[in-house]
Amino acid sequence: MSHFKPIRQVAVIGTGVIGASWAAFYLAKGLDVIATDVAPDAEAALKKYIDNAWPALESLGLTPGASQMRLYFTTDLPEAVKGVDLVQENGPERLDFKQKLYGQLDALLPPEVIIASSSSGLPMSQIQLGAPSHPERCVIGHPFNPPHLMPLVEVVGGEKTSEHTILRAMDFYASLGKETVRINKEMPGHVANRLQAALAREVYYLVSEGILSAGDVDKALTAGPGLRWGIMGNMMLNHLGGGPGGIEHFLQQFAGPLKTSWGSLGSPELTPEVQKKLIDSVHEEVGSRSIEELAAERDELLIGLLKLRANLA
Ligand SMILES: NC(=O)c1ccc[n+]([C@@H]2O[C@H](COP(=O)([O-])OP(=O)(O)OC[C@H]3O[C@@H](n4cnc5c(N)ncnc54)[C@H](O)[C@@H]3O)[C@@H](O)[C@H]2O)c1
Repeated sequence: MSHFKPIRQVAVIGTGVIGASWAAFYLAKGLDVIATDVAPDAEAALKKYIDNAWPALESLGLTPGASQMRLYFTTDLPEAVKGVDLVQENGPERLDFKQKLYGQLDALLPPEVIIASSSSGLPMSQIQLGAPSHPERCVIGHPFNPPHLMPLVEVVGGEKTSEHTILRAMDFYASLGKETVRINKEMPGHVANRLQAALAREVYYLVSEGILSAGDVDKALTAGPGLRWGIMGNMMLNHLGGGPGGIEHFLQQFAGPLKTSWGSLGSPELTPEVQKKLIDSVHEEVGSRSIEELAAERDELLIGLLKLRANLA
């Protein structure tokens, strides 16, 4: 049982790609959601998104009391945040925009209300400069797209974020079934995107050098290490890779070879020519399949894997 003040009503600011998915997730978890966005037709687009996401959320299991009827939409910011316990901010990824918005939120909200930003890359220390009264309640709660399916939330504070805010945000996300990681120091791109970037660098290098096709590099990942990464991470798999001797034996055996292969990793320049090579190779891999077909295939397998993980937990 959490000792933090309960969070029952959430404001979702910005209902684009990420905000709409967060709204669907919070509704599925039985929360009241007030959403706001300035785009024309934002309300209709949000409702359509939630409607489409709902069958997947139902199949993963709705919290008792969860309902799409618990969504309220307004274009008025003060109305959107009135009485809420937490704000999930998903506005455009621009520092000037976020600082101005945080200034408005800081003036509107009582100090105990957490303002969590989905920002993929802006440091909270910079964003919270816009909220001079209570910067300690501002924190990054960075999801993985789409947040209504992907469990990961990276939590990182800025220089002025309080420990209490970080712990309360982590407790909140975890209480909804999210897998949280706490990042102890602000890093450009947080952490999960850096891991993707490290891998993408080598993938683009291998394909651009013609060492293998996009289809084959994707096969090498999804039939090889990628299949295991959805189950255990790099560190735990290294422990298993050492056999009965575990991580100690693994490092003893592979520290040398790893260092040698790091020395040969690529660092491609993404020139227009290199990009064309990558694009052509991806289209060869895709063939006649549409984006919708591929997304449906990805989501079906992802939901199956999430259910399997939930059953085994
Ligand atoms: N797209 C991703 O894969 C992804 C993943 C994780 C985190 N993020 C982060 O989430 C945030 C949103 O990204 P996105 O991809 O959803 O962008 P997006 O462009 O799809 O959505 C941004 C939304 O904010 C709205 N908006 C603009 N001004 C506003 C205002 N004054 N009040 C309310 N709403 C306003 C826009 O109309 C738009 O709907 C960014 O900080 C981004 O870094 C994105």
